[in-house]
Amino acid sequence: MADWTDVAAAEELIEGEPLVVEAGDCVLVVMSHRGQVSCLEDVCTHDGGPLSEGCFDGGTLACPRHGAKFDVQTGEALTMPATQPTKAFSAKIEDGRVWVLMEE
Ligand code: FES
Repeated sequence: MADWTDVAAAEELIEGEPLVVEAGDCVLVVMSHRGQVSCLEDVCTHDGGPLSEGCFDGGTLACPRHGAKFDVQTGEALTMPATQPTKAFSAKIEDGRVWVLMEE
């Protein structure tokens, strides 16, 4: 079962700047671009790089270690050396908080 989890105050999420949050056992990166909120697991599928330290251009997040790019909405690996998707989560801002839809 999936449930919305409160992960941060909305004012912590700055447009264009990846925000690291924790939800349960997961470390996630939340991003905001033009009113759209997205969330990925903060782990590159190539070799475990911290995606939150990479470059976010609004549609993709590039791993800081070897540059693989991931689609921030789907988690799809778009460029080498990553070939597997990272986990993507639904995210939203509501009532002044950032919420992520987590599987129980
Ligand atoms: S660890 Fe991310 S591209 Fe290598």
